[in-house]
Amino acid sequence: MTILVTGGAGYIGSHMVKLLQEQNEEVIVIDNLSTGSAKSISEAKLYIGDIRDKEIMTNIFTENKIDAVIHFAADSRVAESVANPLKYYNNNLHGTATLLEFMVKYGVKYIVFSSTAAVYGNSETNIITEETKTNPESPYGETKLAIEQMMEWVSSAHGIYYTALRYFNACGAHESGLIGESRNHETHLIPLVLQVALGKRKKINIYGDDYATKDGTCIRDYIHVTDLANAHIKAVKWMKKYKKSGIFNLGNGKGFSVQEIVDYARKVTKKPILAEVDSRRAGDPDKLVASNQLAKEELKWVPKITKIDDIIKSAWKFMNNFPDGYGG
Ligand code: UFG
Repeated sequence: MTILVTGGAGYIGSHMVKLLQEQNEEVIVIDNLSTGSAKSISEAKLYIGDIRDKEIMTNIFTENKIDAVIHFAADSRVAESVANPLKYYNNNLHGTATLLEFMVKYGVKYIVFSSTAAVYGNSETNIITEETKTNPESPYGETKLAIEQMMEWVSSAHGIYYTALRYFNACGAHESGLIGESRNHETHLIPLVLQVALGKRKKINIYGDDYATKDGTCIRDYIHVTDLANAHIKAVKWMKKYKKSGIFNLGNGKGFSVQEIVDYARKVTKKPILAEVDSRRAGDPDKLVASNQLAKEELKWVPKITKIDDIIKSAWKFMNNFPDGYGG
């Protein structure tokens, strides 16, 4: 198969590209390198540019016979989306509309879309199924949900099949330790905690210890990036085989508190890791844990790296190899 990976130089995208290459699939990447790094996909055929740019999209679709698209290209910072919503509507919605336009024009029938647990927002239930009411609380979650709906309409009008994968907390790094999570402006818990272990930060702030959880800190469902990537390949095969579209949660189905993550990181790194309780961060729900039953049943997807210490170990290996990230 020839697969176009949009946003393939980003964190999850680069693991996707690696997995496809390991399985001997033909991979084409488009990435505008706004947050991604070409160094993370050194062996892939890369078009540097934006999916909203019709000239580069024309080149990609005329120069390659694409069988399926795996679509990551998007802005993905919750807080930034609240501060600058139009950036998200423009890049995420307009970007995907352009991509779908090209898929329709060139007869590409399958798309896997990188969606998010943020579509659920502050949910009333703690174990979230795909039936749980959506209630996005940021333009980020809102645009991802709107894209799911856009794909549904495009699917009925033009016979395209789509799979939306709603990720919970993506984390970890490839077993080689050569690609991993590397951002200029880091906000995610595990990389920040490990930066403290590495001596690059003095302490980790724990955002709130008065939540309605066992130790008062927020609970999240941490899912390894390789398991995430694997689900995308299964989704392409599932769509091709059954000629169906679908929406699936991707998580381990098990929650860990912020305090537990800090404790596991201390164990894995053998560093003290200074942690201080800070005030709550706006918009953080108490507990977000996925039901992953549907993905297991339909896609036959089973997460493999499920132990939290193994997940943290993989991130730690990458961080030791690249203490300054990919270096721009
Ligand atoms: N946290 C801290 N200190 C920090 C950073 C994070 O205590 O310095 C806490 C947060 O309050 C939260 C937990 O650690 O309780 C995890 O926070 P992350 O920022 O790592 O991840 P989020 O759960 O906020 O976000 C993730 C994805 C988003 C997605 C969201 C859906 O990264 O893309 O889940 O709810 F939108």
